[in-house]
Amino acid sequence: MKGTFPIEKFRALRTPFYYYDTEVLRRTLACIRDEASRYERFCVHYAIKANANPKVLAIIRENGLGADCVSGGEIQAAIKVGFPSENIVFAGVGKADWEINLALDHDIACFNVESLPELEVINELASAKGKVARIAFRINPDVGAHTHANITTGLAENKFGIRMEDMEHVIEVARTMKYIDFIGLHFHIGSQILDMGDFVALCNRVNELQDKLEANQIRIAYINVGGGLGIDYQHPNRQSVPDFAAYFKTYATHLKLRSYQTLHFELGRAVVGQCGSLISRVLYVKQGANKQFAILDAGMTDLIRPALYQAYHKIENISSEDPLQTYDVVGPVCESSDVFGKAIDLNEVHRGDFIAIRSAGAYGEIMASGYNCRKLPQGYLSGETPL
Ligand code: LLP
Repeated sequence: MKGTFPIEKFRALRTPFYYYDTEVLRRTLACIRDEASRYERFCVHYAIKANANPKVLAIIRENGLGADCVSGGEIQAAIKVGFPSENIVFAGVGKADWEINLALDHDIACFNVESLPELEVINELASAKGKVARIAFRINPDVGAHTHANITTGLAENKFGIRMEDMEHVIEVARTMKYIDFIGLHFHIGSQILDMGDFVALCNRVNELQDKLEANQIRIAYINVGGGLGIDYQHPNRQSVPDFAAYFKTYATHLKLRSYQTLHFELGRAVVGQCGSLISRVLYVKQGANKQFAILDAGMTDLIRPALYQAYHKIENISSEDPLQTYDVVGPVCESSDVFGKAIDLNEVHRGDFIAIRSAGAYGEIMASGYNCRKLPQGYLSGETPL
């Protein structure tokens, strides 16, 4: 089954571009709200890194999610579309001084701190402003996730977070700092996770660490378990909204949340992944030695996930109902890795046909580059002019 697209309206637009189906986005956000609100004290943030298109951000903000930022630029993007600063959290292994100052100026909810040297700098910069920074420590839980090696983050070998065995020491240090208010713990084990067992493993680890803290009379009010819920790249229509019910239930069942604690989530891909498609035109159909190529005007500069992670995205010829033929679908960039898919069955392809690359709402437009001096793709939302 193919997706439905306003092809007539696409004709006036320069390709490639991102098309965001706001109906899918709104349905996804409604599902998040309904499923999270079954449980007390579950707070959902949107990980801006997945897609910072201002019009997409505005819809997410309207639906009451907080913002998870990993740079000063993302904090500025969040503030600009009106996320309240008390719903903004700031993570990242390498926060620059200007970014910390920006976050302090806006009195954001929490810094997710990833090392002692970083904590010292935050304390120093907060002191210069006469402010107290709320912080959570990002603990590396050494929990693997069944996903691509490049997007697992919670293993001891990864650069992220503070080692579990150092947790008590860093908390002790934080408690001696005058301009630091230590409020909780942060975790994130990876991305595109579909096996709820991975999240159960994280819950078990969090429970273990909490017991340890309590044995030392340390009470924390804030627990942040990051994001990571995956989407169905194979069947974007069949499962256009991820299984948030199972996701939140996993945490409600397995994480022993204390009555005085709030539980925070930072979801990126699951919020925006399925609403976006990269739309391109076919430039040429070319015969190779033993195959044919469909050469698109979109390339790895517009959507880098297949080249970078060997990621699968469903590809559809939305202009043709002709019998299927098999193609390698490639872009125009001067790199052999500029391939969206090999041996893909598409309705027969002609020059000028529109090709939709599906499930591209997350880590698509935002990771676009200008390599080969190519133009950055535009993003259009359904229902807005010119659509
Ligand atoms: N929180 C933290 C601390 C993170 O590092 C990430 C993602 C998230 C939340 C959101 O994760 P999500 O819910 O989207 O899985 N560019 C890669 C994905 C990189 C994810 C980086 N961190 C991709 O295209 O697959």
